[in-house]
Amino acid sequence: MSSRFYVTTPIYYVNDKPHIGHLYTTIICDTLARFHKMRGDDVFFLTGTDEHGQKIEQSAHKNNQTPKQYADDVSLKFKELWDSFGICYDKFIRTTDKEHIKSVQSAFLKMYSKGDIYKGEYEGQYCVSCESFVTNSNTCPDCNRELILLKEESYFFRLSAYEDKLIKWYNDNPNVILPNSRKKEILNFIKSGLEDLSITRTSFKWGIKIPQEIGDCKEHIVYVWLDALINYLSAIGYENNLESKMEFFPPSIQVVGKDILRFHAVYWIAFLMSLDLPLPKHIAAHGWWTKDGAKMSKSLGNVVNPQDILDEFGIDSVRYFLLREVPFGQDGDFSKKAMIDRINADLCNDLGNLLNRLIGMSEKYFDNNLISHNLIQSYKDELDSVNSIIKELEYFMEEVKIHNYLESVWKIFSLANITITKKEPWRLIKEGKSEEVSDLLVFVSNCLIKGALLLYPCMPDSALKILSVFGVDISYDYIANKNIISQFTIKPIPPLFPRIEPEAIKQEVKMEYIKKDDFSKIEIKIGTILEAEILPKSEKLLKLKVDLDEGRVRQIIAGIKEYYQPSSLIGIQVCVLANLKPAKLMGEISEGMILAVKDDKGLSLITPHNLVKNGSNVS
Ligand code: ME8
Ligand code: MG
Repeated sequence: MSSRFYVTTPIYYVNDKPHIGHLYTTIICDTLARFHKMRGDDVFFLTGTDEHGQKIEQSAHKNNQTPKQYADDVSLKFKELWDSFGICYDKFIRTTDKEHIKSVQSAFLKMYSKGDIYKGEYEGQYCVSCESFVTNSNTCPDCNRELILLKEESYFFRLSAYEDKLIKWYNDNPNVILPNSRKKEILNFIKSGLEDLSITRTSFKWGIKIPQEIGDCKEHIVYVWLDALINYLSAIGYENNLESKMEFFPPSIQVVGKDILRFHAVYWIAFLMSLDLPLPKHIAAHGWWTKDGAKMSKSLGNVVNPQDILDEFGIDSVRYFLLREVPFGQDGDFSKKAMIDRINADLCNDLGNLLNRLIGMSEKYFDNNLISHNLIQSYKDELDSVNSIIKELEYFMEEVKIHNYLESVWKIFSLANITITKKEPWRLIKEGKSEEVSDLLVFVSNCLIKGALLLYPCMPDSALKILSVFGVDISYDYIANKNIISQFTIKPIPPLFPRIEPEAIKQEVKMEYIKKDDFSKIEIKIGTILEAEILPKSEKLLKLKVDLDEGRVRQIIAGIKEYYQPSSLIGIQVCVLANLKPAKLMGEISEGMILAVKDDKGLSLITPHNLVKNGSNVS
């Protein structure tokens, strides 16, 4: 039965370039959209950019641009990235679109007329980075950044009036939040008491003005989260001039990162209740990606750029890795090694080799023409297994357990691989049992076809290539029922997922060259350690006195306590980074850095091979 399916990503802030976190959310939504399209549902897939607010205003000024120019530039980057990943969105909304502005003002007025909005004064802490009001904390509980103090006239939304309604709704609809494990934190937040929410600001300009009808002499602009959340309505023509697609409302599923679940599961729902609109079926919150174990941030310079991994690995391998690597809802770590391991094991070995074996044997034994003789009887158990694997898949997609979904698809490929190994077709051929081999290859072909169809939402391009081998089109019916195709002319294709060799991995470690001038900025000198003592309270640090023949002795704090007894260091000559800016460590000044090398056995100081004059330059 076909039905409407409305799926949304968060709209991303334009203060930053897109990275794999954004890509991840968008790929999940793209997969859900494709799955439902394949099933014959009427799909609307929405994404876009969030362009107003204090944070964007500040970033634009830092960049010497007007907020609008800045938003135009970064919004385009998101759009281009989605296009290069082939994301099948139906609409890309920008909160600076005039239709969106109209919807926001209209929603504001409705809530106001209903008595849910009143004027007051906000006094309290605010996190500009999260655009959120913070109580009882000196730093932002979400991002740890410093807060600013706000004291300004503000309109408030009567969130407190929705506390009981929200609790009741979540009790009546226990499966709204996915994964279900996150529901508790939301209910606890609601039950801890909801305060009315400040929904306008007056201390900066970059945002949507409150409706004229309210006739306020102050220039209030709408709080960026109210502005942003309304995008899910404005994009489908709520109270604006766009063609109305309001029949898609409420959303079937809204995918967000866990960082912004609260805004969706509490504020958004309360706004919708106030507007007397139907409520979303699911809000699904995924976990957080780190890079090589560390938080990704601009200042650390470790942000994974989606375009780079796209260029290196291709769309489908990136999609597969992100969707398969972590269970939905849990945090994940991105590393090239993990990615290459997955590509080699799952895509190259399991799937790629299966397809290559099939193509190879079809060509060699049957000149690419396969026909079944006694397939249904001989492969009854195997076909039953395939069917029961397929039956659980729909549920996985509904619960956004895409990792389980993929795991199950791989069970089908494994079954095919195991069956080949078990039947030993190379032996059967020698024994003249070519009909049995043909049955086997038709069975394997059917596994590959059903697997590829199931894979289509996750890896569209590869799935289509696999299907092209068998001359099959996308058809959900074919997966769902027990249909078996019993005759093929195989059209060979080149290997889909070539193995990524460790050699290739090594070459990935890009050497960043510097010029001689760069090196000459560094002053490394030889010095003799005169004194060494333990720094009380520190587990790692030693306090050293080093003679660099400068007419005075330097104090250097070095993290080598685990590896050297202080007394064993006296009299040793070491390399010192001499022009490092002095810094305080555990309250002690450190004027330089001792150079050392570390491997899996421990740490070793670097010393000159022969005794040299203190103060000599290393060059
Ligand atoms: O919050 N790991 O926008 P935003 C996983 N404009 N997902 C990540 C991620 C990471 N390291 N980093 C970002 C906003 N994301 C608001 C939303 S909606 C009405 C307004 C993804 O640019 C994840 O989906 O900060 C997260 O929720 C979203 O980007 C936040 O994007
Ligand atoms: Mg954010």
